[in-house]
Amino acid sequence: MIRVENLRKVYKVGDEKVVALDNISVKIEKGEFCCIVGTSGSGKSTLLNMLAGLEKPTKGKVRINGQLVSKMTEKELAKFRQENIGFIFQSYNLMPTLTATENVAFPLLFKGVDRDIREKKAKKILKEMGLGDRLNHKPGEMSGGQQQRVGIARAFVGRPNVIFADEPTGNLDSATTEQVMKMLLDISQQNNITFVMVTHDPELAQMAPRVITLKDGRVVSDMKDGVSLLEQDLIPEQENETEIISTQTADQ
Ligand SMILES: Nc1ncnc2c1ncn2[C@@H]1O[C@H](COP(=O)(O)OP(=O)(O)O)[C@@H](O)[C@H]1O
Ligand SMILES: [Mg+2]
Repeated sequence: MIRVENLRKVYKVGDEKVVALDNISVKIEKGEFCCIVGTSGSGKSTLLNMLAGLEKPTKGKVRINGQLVSKMTEKELAKFRQENIGFIFQSYNLMPTLTATENVAFPLLFKGVDRDIREKKAKKILKEMGLGDRLNHKPGEMSGGQQQRVGIARAFVGRPNVIFADEPTGNLDSATTEQVMKMLLDISQQNNITFVMVTHDPELAQMAPRVITLKDGRVVSDMKDGVSLLEQDLIPEQENETEIISTQTADQ
């Protein structure tokens, strides 16, 4: 589903080079819920931006569904994102003058869906997310948790293959954070949507089945259901053959 090969990103700041990502290779399967975790500056946002084609790598490749995202033109990317990708933002990025229903229906406009069907789909999802009594509210008339649920509904309404989320609970209190996280896990599982979520919070990341930890632009840990996927950890333990042979020699 998502294939990252030897990804490297170097920023030039004045005369200095900042290596934001250093030789990253990961595979994320269809329907997987993956958290990318690490301290501030470890490269999480850079990696997510690279996956979504928002930035071009210095070296390496990103493929989604077999398509080479890292080589697409802006026009190809726009179409690809429209058809395949949903985004959830830390600051919700809802349009303040539109109602919850209108915000959620908005991405369907670009897919050429008729107005009444757009509205029907948006309302259905909002009701499923427990916002049936907020359909005509504008973002300013809702709590942070409610606004983020609208943001999730908007990301999900076009049934994308992948949803990318950068610190989606970053502006929420801890109780709401847990609710929203559970909602994301449920949606991903029920709809077989691949989720890649960035967070600086290791405890939150642990709620996900797959956790990739970055440090200084490198993958330092990659755990799926508690088992390491890092190549260096996959090498089977070596049998202690030499010792057995030497014992036999001594016996002869
Ligand atoms: N546009 C940029 N120009 C220069 N340096 C950048 C830019 N974006 C990120 N960086 C640097 O790359 C590193 C990784 O940043 P980032 O991916 O934002 O980390 P995180 O999201 O984990 O906090 C940091 O050292 C940051 O300062
Ligand atoms: Mg970041």
